Amino acid sequence: MLSGKCVVVGVCGGIAAYKAAYVVSALKKLGADVRVIMTEAAQQFVGKITFQTLSQNLVVCDMFDEPKRWNVEHVELATAADLMLVVPATANTIAKMANGIADNMLTCVYMATKAKVIIAPAMNKNMYESDATVENMKKLAQRGCRFVDADEGFLACATTGKGRLAEPDKIVEAVIDELAFEKDLRALKVLVSAGATREALDPVRFITNHSSGKMGYAIARAAKRRGADVTLVSGKTALCDIDGVNMVKVESAREMHDEILKRSANCDIIIKAAAVADYAPASVSENKIKKTESDMSIQLCKNPDILSELGQKKPQGQVLVGFCMETQNLLENAKSKLVRKNCDFIVANNLFTKGAGFGADTNTVTIISSDGETFSPENMSKDDLSHIILDAAKKRYDEKNIM
Ligand code: CTP
Repeated sequence: MLSGKCVVVGVCGGIAAYKAAYVVSALKKLGADVRVIMTEAAQQFVGKITFQTLSQNLVVCDMFDEPKRWNVEHVELATAADLMLVVPATANTIAKMANGIADNMLTCVYMATKAKVIIAPAMNKNMYESDATVENMKKLAQRGCRFVDADEGFLACATTGKGRLAEPDKIVEAVIDELAFEKDLRALKVLVSAGATREALDPVRFITNHSSGKMGYAIARAAKRRGADVTLVSGKTALCDIDGVNMVKVESAREMHDEILKRSANCDIIIKAAAVADYAPASVSENKIKKTESDMSIQLCKNPDILSELGQKKPQGQVLVGFCMETQNLLENAKSKLVRKNCDFIVANNLFTKGAGFGADTNTVTIISSDGETFSPENMSKDDLSHIILDAAKKRYDEKNIM
């Protein structure tokens, strides 16, 4: 995702410096050319050799080190950078950056670069909340720096509060947001549904299915990375929220229906990857249902078919994508759903195909278009497949919305 991109990582002196090692490693794995600058204080926490090994590049620390090649090093780094990431950013370095003090390699590169800058602060809670830091961060944000806000939690100074470095994956995601993918979905509102619904029987039990939500979450993340304004209406999953996506959590099919329908009219693309229960118990017991000596049966009543309703109400110009999982007659059933539910595309898969379906990180699907075309990409990661689905949806969106 980041191949061909140069990320200059500035590491400051804070206990969270060791987490910067993970960030550097992750950026490297994504293909970036990572160039690390450490402040003098940072070297008190983590050795230069760690970053040198992880980045497979020489680490720059001192302005007056003997140069390895003849160039003006801070200018060379500042020019090479597609993005500069300061992690962890201490109160001291943030203050210097905000006030034009360039007294070490990190701050010199910051002042000399025209690249995008991401700052991930970490410090004691009181330092983080101090007027000076708040003002300095505001100044930097106004100048276009992007902040990955510190989290709340247990701090190294044995207090609890805001000041913990954001999760490294969240910092990496911010870099991906800035550098990877063309923002071809910018200005588009994309609504995605994911995960399984839960239909309560009593306060203890529910009816559900095996959906992990991975496909829908991958689509939402991919759309966000391509610049869309994404809302993800999610049933229960074990997955983490996606930073930068408007997350709406629901339990039942009815709740999912209501949350989707109140947003759908304003959306440009809707992708319904959720596994929605077709039926719900006719009544929900207020108390736990007790066992008796006899067998029991549960009466079920029909849930609304959200995709069908979206299809009926589809505004001109909107693109609607449904999913379907079948165990027999895949193409026939999928084509009939495509027509019945007035979709632009149906993404169909067979539960019994290896490397596809519930819980897997890969999927094998057939994408059926309302114009009669079918396309069966090879088995691939749900992340990669998401882009193929989004490409098709975007193309259809453009066709429908030619000025
Ligand atoms: N879907 C929906 N609301 C429902 C049931 C399904 O919005 N109550 C959507 C799913 O999110 C999916 C598509 O419809 O995008 C197809 O789901 P699927 O379960 O395969 O289809 P059903 O219409 O439920 O058909 P059947 O159970 O007969 O296979």
